[in-house]
Amino acid sequence: MGQTLKTSKTIKPFNAVIFGGDGDLALRKIYPALFHRFVDNQINCEFTIFAITRSTKKHSEFYSTLGAFIEQSIDYELDRNKIDIFLKKIELVNIPTHSEVDYLPLKVELEKTATFQNIFYLSTPADAFGDISDMLKKCNLINPKSKVVLEKPLGFSLASSQAIHAKISRSFSENQIYRIDHYLGKETVQNLMVLRFANHLFEHSWSSDHIECVQITVAESLGVESRGDYYDHSGALLDMVQNHLLQLLCLIAMEPPAKLEADFVRNEKLKVLNSLRLMDEKSVVTDTVKGQYTRGKVFENQVPSYLEDIGKYESGTDTFVAIKAFIDNWRWKNTPFYLRTGKRMAKRYSEIVIHFKSVRHNLFPSQGEIPGNRLIMRLQPEERIELVQMTKLPGPGGYRYKPISLKLDYMDSFHERFPEAYERLIIDVLRGDQTLFMRQDELEAAWIWIESIADSWKKAEKKNVLYEAGSWGPGDSVMEKDHAWSKLRENEDKEI
Ligand code: BG6
Repeated sequence: MGQTLKTSKTIKPFNAVIFGGDGDLALRKIYPALFHRFVDNQINCEFTIFAITRSTKKHSEFYSTLGAFIEQSIDYELDRNKIDIFLKKIELVNIPTHSEVDYLPLKVELEKTATFQNIFYLSTPADAFGDISDMLKKCNLINPKSKVVLEKPLGFSLASSQAIHAKISRSFSENQIYRIDHYLGKETVQNLMVLRFANHLFEHSWSSDHIECVQITVAESLGVESRGDYYDHSGALLDMVQNHLLQLLCLIAMEPPAKLEADFVRNEKLKVLNSLRLMDEKSVVTDTVKGQYTRGKVFENQVPSYLEDIGKYESGTDTFVAIKAFIDNWRWKNTPFYLRTGKRMAKRYSEIVIHFKSVRHNLFPSQGEIPGNRLIMRLQPEERIELVQMTKLPGPGGYRYKPISLKLDYMDSFHERFPEAYERLIIDVLRGDQTLFMRQDELEAAWIWIESIADSWKKAEKKNVLYEAGSWGPGDSVMEKDHAWSKLRENEDKEI
């Protein structure tokens, strides 16, 4: 077994209070994450989970739905009695309004275990965050050991994210706030830190001196599903780039932190965000593409257009975005970072590709230009790292070569179960480790850059390019003159 990134701290007795306790996210991610850490014996202290609902729920209905979600999440041999043992740890509490009288049953329960740490998990729309945290404070339920976990979207602009923060910080200090970005809990994403900072091999070539460009793609085959109301106010730029893609970019671009501690890591990520070159009316025209999907076929199935999905006749919302970004600092001057994400694309496929420059001098001119090495970190569907290098073709026919990959396939190399991103993140909350959570200043720096794009799109009256569902989106229409961008095709077309 390899070493873990952090020394493992034992988890102290806790109460997890989940607002939005009957919501989709809680059922799909939060309870299953707690369950798997519980059966793995990582959560081996006393604890109670309170599922807070606004509308009255029948107990039997709630527990059977919850049991079914947990059952679905099990992908290994397990004694099913464990589900019943876990369900007994969950109490359903109905809080219809934000009033002291409605919070009383929760207060009574939490006061029974006054020495436990209370984790308040706000899996609700952000406009409820202020009322919930004010009421928790008023009921004296917050103490220095308490923590609050916030789910996205944390606003739709810099101003709205600051407004949310202002409300939350009336009750919680920054070291109690855990803003979830589930991409930071993914194994391959964490492996980026190890790959960069535990391998001497890459460090010396990790800069614009040696790297031609970096490409980050997060492609989804799903459409907006039932989230049309939310998504139409957000779009791909806010839903994916503002958080997930920028966090990936930060991990690739940041300087080595002095220590592997939350604020050391977050200070370095903040510097990257502050160095992003802001966009203007001119650069959004040349360096960004926004698109929206029309009807098409995904995996042979006919699927509706975005407008049909959201039930509207028109919408300017972007379901695809591609951006050529620059980080204006010493390490990355003039190295483009291409970010690309879209819904209803050909397949679910996410990866980071580091394109190294070609060798300085070509010793084999008869073979044409020598392509640069590529380091490929695939996040989805399978987790894999590849180093593409030129290799001689065997045989006496002179120096003929082709790109061959050195592959690290996670599945082949490690046989342990891969915990879901939420499992890792929730354990970090319980242990009080904020490294994988965004600090408010990071969030604000990300918003400043995102707003430079969103505002310039408006000023430039940038329109969506329509793309057929099931295609790779319209990224190439603007980026094709960039040699590196078009090379992405090599990976897309591979059978995976
Ligand atoms: C969420 C977005 O944050 O991430 C969704 O709101 C998106 O629109 C999802 O589908 C993608 O996550 P993953 O882990 O499936 O890549």
